[in-house]
Amino acid sequence: MSKLFITDTILRDAHQSQAATRMKIEDMIPALELLDKVGYWSVECWGGATFDSCMRFLNEDPWERLRTIKKHMPNTKLQMLFRGQNILGYKHYADDVVEAFCKKSIENGIDVVRVFDALNDPRNLEAAIKFVKQYGGMCEAAISYTTSPVHNEDYFVRLACDLEKMGADTICIKDMANLLLPYDAYSLVKKLKENVGVPIHLHTHNTAGTGDMTNLMAAQAGVDIVDCALSPMANGTSNPSTESLVATLKGTERDTGLDLEVLSQAAKHFRNVATELKERGDLDPKVLNVDANTLLYQVPGGMLSNLISQLKQNNAEDKYYDVLAEVPRVREDFGYPPLVTPTSQIVGTQAVLNVLAGERYKMITKESKALLRGEYGQLPAPVNEEVRKKAIGDDEVITVRPADLLEPELEKYKKEAGDLIKCEEDVLSYALFPQVASGFLANRNKPSVKEESSDEVRTLYVQF
Ligand code: CO
Repeated sequence: MSKLFITDTILRDAHQSQAATRMKIEDMIPALELLDKVGYWSVECWGGATFDSCMRFLNEDPWERLRTIKKHMPNTKLQMLFRGQNILGYKHYADDVVEAFCKKSIENGIDVVRVFDALNDPRNLEAAIKFVKQYGGMCEAAISYTTSPVHNEDYFVRLACDLEKMGADTICIKDMANLLLPYDAYSLVKKLKENVGVPIHLHTHNTAGTGDMTNLMAAQAGVDIVDCALSPMANGTSNPSTESLVATLKGTERDTGLDLEVLSQAAKHFRNVATELKERGDLDPKVLNVDANTLLYQVPGGMLSNLISQLKQNNAEDKYYDVLAEVPRVREDFGYPPLVTPTSQIVGTQAVLNVLAGERYKMITKESKALLRGEYGQLPAPVNEEVRKKAIGDDEVITVRPADLLEPELEKYKKEAGDLIKCEEDVLSYALFPQVASGFLANRNKPSVKEESSDEVRTLYVQF
């Protein structure tokens, strides 16, 4: 076995997980040249919720942010998180929008695109994989890790083999909810290394306090790359800390070769940023605690806090444990989707409604209906037909690739946005977040504009 490669998530998942994605470009710039010197496999800096947060809360053009990072970090691969056919939004987009987004992301500085689908339906990754490669990017296809009666090792190995055949340059085990336990990680990585030719990249969190051990066991099993975050914004709901793993592996056959001195200088900067985020009220120290409920309820940490806030809004905090018990039942009825954006919101909200209404499926959300109708792709296991009937009656269930039913739509967005658009990047910002982008584009360059909007599942906004 050789050197273990590290991806640092300090510019994306770390602050998305701990500080509601509120790190500004000014918070990053002073450390970018240092980060560029570290020798990471890649630095994750874009996608996920960063794009939305830039326009919604920070009055920042996300494309400009990407170009700025690239300018200061010419020697390190920049990585983004991409939600398959949903791109960075909450619905399926037509292939022409997926193509334009891949093209523009790569043109503006992205090197590695990590593509995932909440349902692990490979058809939802097809277009993204194809276009990332066509425009010269490296495509990392991700398995959304979860546990259920259908999600076993064989299932994940089969899926990884399919993704490799589809052209993935690397395969990621995306354990967004920190459900992958250390010995299971060892076994899964071993199996993947035996069956898959391309490098394996592990992404886990430390919500339940098992993340460091999971990374170490995966390293022992031969994983090629792991995700870590610089210590000031590591652990808790974020990813395990970079320095801890680098120190642990020093002098072993998996030595990362990274210099702890350089890491410590970069960490010094982000320690100040973390303090400022705390002072601005964007970083709640609660996210740093170990939350073993994740292991008990198999519910991602971010989703737990979201359920609490939904219940608070309804003055029903005493129903918390009823809702927690209802989540796995809804998940079973819905064919065991992994709980990640957007399925975590859909299942979570339905569970809240089932409990608050006092009768299961008395109220069914639009999103639950869409999921059961197959609009998000194929569910991992058969659904509860009785529940489906209640939700969509005799409506036909979609069995083709959902995006095949969509007409090209880029021109429509261009027309709709009209004068707001100054370049093709603006069209994409608008396509993904019409209301937020309208406010942002209309007011750009004016200081401190905050646009309140109701784009999609706004109140249910859990981020991973
Ligand atoms: Co994550």
